[in-house]
Amino acid sequence: MKTKMTELLGIEHPVMLAGMAYVAVPKLVAAVSNAGGLGMLNPSIYAPEGAREAIREVRSLTDKPFAVNITLWLPGARENAVVALEEKVPVINTSLGRADWIINAAHEYGGKVLATVVMHRHARRSELDGADFLIVTGHEAAAHGGDIGSLVLIPQARAWVNIPIIAAGGFCDGRGLAAALALGAEGISMGTRFMLTQESPVTDDIKQVCLQASAEDTLYSDRFSGIPGRVLKTKMSERIAGQRIVSPVKALSAAREISQMLEVPLWKLFLQSLKTRRSIWSLARQAGEAVGLRKAVEGGDIDLLTFPVGQVAGVINDLPTCKEVIEQTVAEAKEVLEATKAKLLA
Ligand SMILES: Cc1cc2nc3c(=O)[nH]c(=O)nc-3n(C[C@H](O)[C@H](O)[C@H](O)COP(=O)(O)O)c2cc1C
Repeated sequence: MKTKMTELLGIEHPVMLAGMAYVAVPKLVAAVSNAGGLGMLNPSIYAPEGAREAIREVRSLTDKPFAVNITLWLPGARENAVVALEEKVPVINTSLGRADWIINAAHEYGGKVLATVVMHRHARRSELDGADFLIVTGHEAAAHGGDIGSLVLIPQARAWVNIPIIAAGGFCDGRGLAAALALGAEGISMGTRFMLTQESPVTDDIKQVCLQASAEDTLYSDRFSGIPGRVLKTKMSERIAGQRIVSPVKALSAAREISQMLEVPLWKLFLQSLKTRRSIWSLARQAGEAVGLRKAVEGGDIDLLTFPVGQVAGVINDLPTCKEVIEQTVAEAKEVLEATKAKLLA
């Protein structure tokens, strides 16, 4: 299926993998790219040399285009962006921060930049800065979707900018792809759907819980990562959603965990959080979510973790390969678009 998204990014189908810490690892990224979509690595869990290795591992598994996700708000993100630019990654996806310098540097080697936004001001800023695409993420999404649902957000964003749009939040099949195209997007980005595939590194236990979840089994709050986001309803996430204050001891231990993971000294982490105007408490909340994601991959009691899951989990009930997801999504979208025409009475 061809759209502006496939043409500009050099891929076969207008479907991409969303950036997911601990989940969007080289094997999953390559599986999506090899199936004709756009795989996207999330290097936020690596120090720069780890990010470089992961990028090179993706390249050893696929010769197709892939992307790297840079969440500028996170500690270590600027350093990882520099590595992605040095490695001339074909597509960079930026979010939560000004990315003009990344856009300029990527364009110099022919790379493309997708900017994730949920509001008008950031959409316009990204277009003015030269981003090639916007990814707009609706309220249904796992993790950081905006306040507005995809059905309203996509056409609204279509009117905000002239650059093409990729829709995210609530998509899992061909009906969703057809709807996204109808609403003015050029393709879709999926997180929860690709997390629930054979190649996803999440443990089978968690996959089974997500497969049985209904659309009501998620919680949306700023208490999980410091900014509003959606996670699976568990004993832990319900407890955190009700907690107004993070204990100083927990905050310090979480900050230590991030500092070790990214090989960034604690003092630098504090300085960075001041620069990005975030409190150490919000850093602690974000660390808590990172730990939840790590446990979801390494194995851990589901009741003890916070783990991003979208409302679309309520619609997903199988565990296909990435290739099956992409082929079925595209085939179904074509059928739905034809069948929709046939619904119209003369
Ligand atoms: C397991 C999981 C982990 C995620 N981790 C991150 C993350 O680390 N950073 C981020 O910006 N978004 C993260 N997301 C959100 C996705 O990038 C994407 O915006 C979202 O999944 C789209 O909505 P959907 O789940 O309905 O497809 C995660 C999503 C899932 C399902």
